Amino acid sequence: MNRSDRIAAREALQDQARRLQQESLRDLLEREPERVERDVAEVAGVHLDWTRQRLDAGAWETLFAAARAADVPGALGRLFAGERVNVTEGRAALHTALRLPREARCELDGEDVVPAVHAVLDRMEAFVRAVHEGAHRGFSGKAIDTVVNIGIGGSDLGPRMVSRALADHACPGPAGDPLAMHFVSNIDGEALSRVLRQVDPETTLFVVASKTFTTQETLTNARAARDWLVACADGDGAAVAAHFVAVSTARERVTEFGIDPEHMFGFWDWVGGRYSVWSAIGLPLALMLGMDGFRRFLSGAHAMDEHVRNAAPEGNAAVRMALVDLWNQDTQGAESRAVLPYDERLFFLPSYLQQAEMESLGKRVRLDGTPVEGHTGALVWGAVGTDGQHAFYQLLHQGTRRVPAEFIGVARPGHDLPAQHPMLLANLVAQAEALALGRTEEEVRAEMTAAGHTPAEVDALAPHRSFPGDRPSTLILLEDLDPERLGALIALFEHKIYVLASLWEVNAFDQWGVELGKQLAGRVLADLDPAGRPGPHDPATTATIEWLRGRLGGGG
Ligand code: F6P
Repeated sequence: MNRSDRIAAREALQDQARRLQQESLRDLLEREPERVERDVAEVAGVHLDWTRQRLDAGAWETLFAAARAADVPGALGRLFAGERVNVTEGRAALHTALRLPREARCELDGEDVVPAVHAVLDRMEAFVRAVHEGAHRGFSGKAIDTVVNIGIGGSDLGPRMVSRALADHACPGPAGDPLAMHFVSNIDGEALSRVLRQVDPETTLFVVASKTFTTQETLTNARAARDWLVACADGDGAAVAAHFVAVSTARERVTEFGIDPEHMFGFWDWVGGRYSVWSAIGLPLALMLGMDGFRRFLSGAHAMDEHVRNAAPEGNAAVRMALVDLWNQDTQGAESRAVLPYDERLFFLPSYLQQAEMESLGKRVRLDGTPVEGHTGALVWGAVGTDGQHAFYQLLHQGTRRVPAEFIGVARPGHDLPAQHPMLLANLVAQAEALALGRTEEEVRAEMTAAGHTPAEVDALAPHRSFPGDRPSTLILLEDLDPERLGALIALFEHKIYVLASLWEVNAFDQWGVELGKQLAGRVLADLDPAGRPGPHDPATTATIEWLRGRLGGGG
């Protein structure tokens, strides 16, 4: 496909948007009753509802044409086939191979990667069993009852988000209760200290998770945890072997750190950090859920992979999701998207998607290095409902910006206060309805008049009390929050991200944008040392460093 076809196809979206400008969501819902079927899909246990998007049949058709002009089907084919789609690092992005069943094949450079994937899963299984059966014990002979994952970014957010989401599915640990799970990511010593205050060194397993095993936050926290453990074991360095395991692609660095390669679970450079929850990075999840639960999570993702790989754009949930984002961004002026899970179990989903989407799509040049036209990745933010309703929804309903919302709800609760669940979900539905339809000034006036307000009061308050509506949202509903459905949901988002990257011709799998700050932090750290002399910086940075040098507590 050539670039002018792509550009023409995206320009055609503007014509569609102009055509629809005078029609509100109210009008669209009335004019196209068929949208409640056309714009709803049920895929791998995930119910998707785009009926409240400002799109009609003609706009969808133009969007599908844009997907074809960008050769989205070809791009998906290359992803699944293990081509080096991560061009700046010369790597494939084969996270889909991590969830393939044992009997499948997936070749990378002529070699089937599935046996290696399952060999690691089998090693994880043996380790999980040893922990659960109490065969793997701490330095004093006690069984493990607590897991502390030390990692950041993709080596933290996936396990953190899923462990919260699937806590109801935790299986019994050696003492009968599920293992307690903790996550430490930030270099802020507060994060690790808080966790160390809560855990028992004799029964705690630290999982040091880092693809590169060079990440400052992770290695610093891991060293501090190791020192704490050794001190608790009366200086016996041998204690480390029983309490530390590593998940990484960097065997030598793991060994150098002092973790036995027997206790290292590997993965590969073709697994991006933010796409790695399916790999050994999921070890904390396997420890929490049991290996059966973790494999169910993988199989849900695989079911979604099969759908995305095989469905034509028109019936492909990931393609449709991406096209909705493209539409909102290119034609509706959306700069961000609010992710609004109406379920405490999905508390960390907005943060997880922030990394997945913003690290993947926050790019300004195309695969060939030339600048993109228009915008790429949107800002992703959000919080669980109903807390968000009492914080930022005012702006969603009456602010000057149109912020597309993504509501996520689960029909079956995980708690035993079932009477509250319909209230929660009623809020989800009501918010979507309110955003779409709003309330016109005429309606407000009629209501206020009927309630006995004077005409002067009505005049003064009606503008404040009316809602423009016409604000788009997508509903994503699950019947239950189980490992399969959560796996499918996350895989769907991953594929949506890749489809958007194909539409924009950007690399979804590198993250050069995080490097500069990391490098400069190394220099600034040296400059903060009161014993040294700060190196040259711009005047603003120099002034900040000077201010801090006089005041820094601790090891600065
Ligand atoms: O933030 C940059 C990043 O490279 C992420 O992409 C990655 O998930 C994270 O750091 C952690 O990296 P690692 O797993 O190598 O410690």
